[in-house]
Amino acid sequence: MRTPSNLTARSRRLIELLGPPRSQKKTAFEFSPRDWNELYKNGRHKTMWELEGPSAGAVVLAALLPPGPGARLLDIGCGAGADSIHFARRGYAVTAVDIGAAALQRAQANAEAAGVATIQWIEGDIRRLELARGDFDLAHDRGCLHCLPLNDWPAYGNSLYSLLKPKAPLFVFGCGVAESAFFAPLTGQTLAQLKPWFSIEVFDEVQHCSATGHLRGGFGLLRRRA
Ligand SMILES: C[S@@+](CC[C@H](N)C(=O)[O-])C[C@H]1O[C@@H](n2cnc3c(N)ncnc32)[C@H](O)[C@@H]1O
Repeated sequence: MRTPSNLTARSRRLIELLGPPRSQKKTAFEFSPRDWNELYKNGRHKTMWELEGPSAGAVVLAALLPPGPGARLLDIGCGAGADSIHFARRGYAVTAVDIGAAALQRAQANAEAAGVATIQWIEGDIRRLELARGDFDLAHDRGCLHCLPLNDWPAYGNSLYSLLKPKAPLFVFGCGVAESAFFAPLTGQTLAQLKPWFSIEVFDEVQHCSATGHLRGGFGLLRRRA
């Protein structure tokens, strides 16, 4: 893990919250499924990323790209499922994947409470998801890609390339701490790692606030290469 001296105190605090224990002198770090389960069980997800309803990005996406008949959407790192539920309500056939069983349990309970029974929930790692090739018309990612170590972003691109139909859109939102290799913000530069598999149609940086301080964030609309 890199902690350059020019990080703000708030960024350092965030790295402490999200990073490995100080005792672990690792240069690269990644949450395991167990770590994710822990975050969902101890309630950290509520202060760090979970919304009570769908995210602004999901609402705009579903409004601008309404599903054609039978259109399939992959929600990547679905967490407690608020966005998956929104897409299903808007008519998408939703497959929602998350690496953590605890997140999926919350998501399924939320879907049941919302009366949405059509979502396919899958516990799995987006970098190596064994699903039929070329099945999805659209993919949505709020906050999963930025959780992967930067050197794994190509595995993410490769996996999604095989899951999506040619020219299918991929919408990503991410935020992070500048200079962090394990919680890297979406920037034009980091996103460029996906270029062998996706063209970047739109990318803009946004100011993203959280309880722990200001993070650098970005929205990207990518398109799977034909
Ligand atoms: C920051 S949370 C965002 C959750 C949800 N999208 C939301 O907006 O509330 C990131 C989610 O990605 C999941 N995740 C992390 N790595 C993953 C991976 N390799 N494959 C699938 N899901 C993953 C985590 O378990 C977590 O639920």
